Amino acid sequence: MKREHWGSRIGLILAMAGNAVGLGNFLRFPTQAAQNGGGIFMIPYMISMIVIAIPLMWIEWGIGRYGGVRGHGTTPAIFKLFWNHPLAKYLGVLGLFIPFVVVAYYVYIESWTLGYAWMSISGMLPDQAQLAGLAGDARLKPFKEVLAGYTGMNGEAIYKPSLMAYGFFAFTMLLNIWILIKGISGGIEKLAKVAMPALFVMAIVLMVRVITLETPQGTAIEGLNFLWAPDWSQFLNPKVWLAAAGQVFFTLSLGFGAIITYASYLNKNDDLVLSGLSAASLNELAEVVLGGSIAIPAAAAFFGVVAAQEIASSGAFNLAFVSLPAIFSSIPLGSFFGFVWFLLLFFAGLTSSVAITQPVVSFFEDEFKLSRTLSVMATMALLLPISHVAIFLGNALDEMDFWAGTFFLVVLALIEVVMFLWIFGMKKAWEEMNRGGIITIPAFFRPIMQYVTPAFLSIILVWWCMDILPNVLKNSEWTHWIAREVLIGIFATFAFLAFLAEKRRKRG
Ligand code: PHE
Repeated sequence: MKREHWGSRIGLILAMAGNAVGLGNFLRFPTQAAQNGGGIFMIPYMISMIVIAIPLMWIEWGIGRYGGVRGHGTTPAIFKLFWNHPLAKYLGVLGLFIPFVVVAYYVYIESWTLGYAWMSISGMLPDQAQLAGLAGDARLKPFKEVLAGYTGMNGEAIYKPSLMAYGFFAFTMLLNIWILIKGISGGIEKLAKVAMPALFVMAIVLMVRVITLETPQGTAIEGLNFLWAPDWSQFLNPKVWLAAAGQVFFTLSLGFGAIITYASYLNKNDDLVLSGLSAASLNELAEVVLGGSIAIPAAAAFFGVVAAQEIASSGAFNLAFVSLPAIFSSIPLGSFFGFVWFLLLFFAGLTSSVAITQPVVSFFEDEFKLSRTLSVMATMALLLPISHVAIFLGNALDEMDFWAGTFFLVVLALIEVVMFLWIFGMKKAWEEMNRGGIITIPAFFRPIMQYVTPAFLSIILVWWCMDILPNVLKNSEWTHWIAREVLIGIFATFAFLAFLAEKRRKRG
């Protein structure tokens, strides 16, 4: 069976940008920046970009293209190409485990944005009349109630989502399945060509609307000032540095295996140096310029700078599903702007969720030679039950997000660097990454990739093991334990599949 390829360079760049531009750009970035010293956050952010993100991005594109040319799009088989040892495939299992676990809850959150887009445009959210007489924070309460009713997340052990939430989840899942069945160039690339331009237009419309907001409580410009004013007292705070590094990982989809799989659909001599840089630049434009100019400035204009800061520290969900709808409900054409906001998030989410599902799909296609449709079906047979754990089991989402969406990303990234640059070898890896490049990677990145990137990743891991891990493990309610057992089960399942795949390869 012949492997697929991207249809055009622009399609590839848009698909990679769609992979990276996600909920993280519009929700996670502004809340992280606001919670971590405002403008000062950007210094570690930029440094992490240069010493971790850009090098890893080229590394992942390089690993992916190298594997794809040899018929493999996922790390269990690709690591084996670099390191001929039985353990290689089990280390590579992380490249299936991470995207699989993340997508199990990511699609659900993505479906909320579609549900909220629908509720905005059909007038189901509280409107001005219902909010009359309420001032300031009190205006948020009705929206908090709507969110709690929608998701059924009530602090109890079992959540009871609304029928609507479940319906939108099912629909979103079907949409993802449909795109994945259509394939790389016929589904994902086509989606990106429509969704990415639309996303940028919607974000610009919202940015312009937000920047011109002015109320007696404040202005959007004050919000921008707050977001970008450096709080120097935070400069040496390790928490700020870790947050910046974590954000850079998340937003560029690094350490998930998702970039590797997309890059495996390149041709042997396709440029990756400039294409990778272009996709990353689009992501940064969407993150720093657009993501930074919508949610927080809007909150500052409506509730004042102090309240905006509190909103930011109450988390990304509150910002997206409580504060912003509350703001839109009090401006002219509010239901339209609310609709645009949630549709923007939905498009951002959709182009990312297909990217996080594709690794497992490719695994079935490449390693078990299943047809694309059957591979998608096999993936869904595993994924649907796990998504239900995230939907119904209290605390499962947090537990999944910590392990797969935060901790193991960095572990996988470190393994990638070691496999590619150290075991496969720096010289070969450097040639591999530069082959076909429209530009060459600047020479100073060579020592950065080889030594500084892995050193930084190791420091982050050691820090987390000492600081965050004990706190996470302290959560000992049964819901946390079930979630952890589910995670172990997922890892074991993929390890077994990787074992079978290798046996199959040896026979074949
Ligand atoms: N980068 C995406 C975001 O910012 C998240 C993501 C991670 C998407 C991994 C795909 C793969 O939301």
